[in-house]
Amino acid sequence: MNKIDILLGLQWGDEGKGKVVDALTPNYDIVARFQGGPNAGHTIEFGGKKFVLHNIPSGVLTPGCVNLIGNGVIIDPHILRGEIEGLAKAGFDLRQTLLIANRAHLILPTHRALDAANEKALGKMKVGTTLKGIGPTYTDKTARKGLRIGDIASADFRERYESLKQHHLRQMTAVDFDLSGLQLDGMSFEAYEKLWFEGVEYLKQFQFVDSEYYINEALDNGKKVLAEGAQGSMLDVDFGSYPFVTSSNVIAAGVCSGLGVAPSRIGKVYGIFKAYCTRVGTGPFPTELFDATGETLRQNGHEFGATTGRPRRCGWLDLPALKYAVMLSGVTDLMMMKSDVMDEFETIKVATAYRYNGVETKQLPFAACTETMEPVYVSLDGWRQKIGNEKTENGTPKGSPTEWEVKRRTENNIPEKLEDYIKFIENYVGVPIKFVSYGPDRTQNILR
Ligand code: GDP
Ligand code: IMO
Ligand code: MG
Repeated sequence: MNKIDILLGLQWGDEGKGKVVDALTPNYDIVARFQGGPNAGHTIEFGGKKFVLHNIPSGVLTPGCVNLIGNGVIIDPHILRGEIEGLAKAGFDLRQTLLIANRAHLILPTHRALDAANEKALGKMKVGTTLKGIGPTYTDKTARKGLRIGDIASADFRERYESLKQHHLRQMTAVDFDLSGLQLDGMSFEAYEKLWFEGVEYLKQFQFVDSEYYINEALDNGKKVLAEGAQGSMLDVDFGSYPFVTSSNVIAAGVCSGLGVAPSRIGKVYGIFKAYCTRVGTGPFPTELFDATGETLRQNGHEFGATTGRPRRCGWLDLPALKYAVMLSGVTDLMMMKSDVMDEFETIKVATAYRYNGVETKQLPFAACTETMEPVYVSLDGWRQKIGNEKTENGTPKGSPTEWEVKRRTENNIPEKLEDYIKFIENYVGVPIKFVSYGPDRTQNILR
């Protein structure tokens, strides 16, 4: 009986999940998303080409891999259509390899409008959401009002849509919000709604499945399955810095409800983190840097959102938060991303505790959003050398893949001080770092 492996972000999202899922996909038959929706932006680069995926799993660029959008995911048909068509233009036909769970909920245009209305009503306390309708859609799911992918085939779909839309309009009136000035992806509400319905029709050519049966049968039949997380543990609706979080369970537990697999069927849990930290949107970020170092991280790491283009807030690695995320998901293997961003740093700081209410603690306090947590830092020497190899003009690493396979499997191109940095983290967190990424290309990795 095969088990399902999981890949999760351990920080505030954008750790590089897309890159790693793509790099791991040759080892899997099926890649499945289990939560989140088009709030995600997962970047994959190879051969000088760049792809950003929102609703679609990151296994789609590997021929032969089946990609499943699970029941825990929420879908905007217009956005999903755009993604599928974009990939088709680039030569990736998903008609045979993309499966969609009947139970996945639909993001209605009015869910997006409500997201904007809620943010406006919050004023300065706004979450800084991606405005993709995530919170309102998951709210309707738990309030038992939502519409699901499987519903689009039913004769009364349009009526049910209208009834939910009217409910949303009443909610908007209550916060003094109307659709007249609203722009959704640069369009009026009416124009978006029209495209949304065209998206619904378009999706009918894809295969809808009862994903819980599909996944369990695939595992029974010896297939290898990788669950791809979206967002990051510190944005989890239960354990993140509530209310500055997303609206789903992004931790390993989310795989059980988001795909219908039992806890006993979970295999490896790959936890991925950046060698520093970033966050988009509002909310506590104890190690945030407001100085030139923060700006260097942003520029070197191109820290601008893949979904919204917003500049990401940047800061030092936060080890108590990382250890917390590892605990919540039972991470078995760590993967450290974007180490190259700090290649030239003389000194690198990492937070090992917080000072909070006059005491030092290694735990995240309940009141993290209202109280100031001052990080306690340890300074480590930078490695001050380029990791890995030179790149060609189009950004791909020099040398044939075969040379690469050999080279990236050796530890001897990890500079000594970087190895010290890695060991410091491993000692603190108690889980081995098995994979070090030093560039956006799918090949720029060192396996330890
Ligand atoms: P995701 O949401 O977790 O998939 O991450 P994003 O795609 O939103 O953001 C990660 C960004 O970092 C993307 O632009 C990647 O191409 C890039 N990236 C991934 N790994 C590395 C790395 O090791 N070094 C550098 N410099 N960039 C990386
Ligand atoms: P990936 O999968 C980074 C953040 C938003 C906001 C909060 C709530 O690319 O790592 P939402 O639209 O979900 O209601 O916004 O969560 N957020 C992300 N930040 N990466 C993401 O996804 C995110 N998805 C949501 O910025 O602070
Ligand atoms: Mg992202």
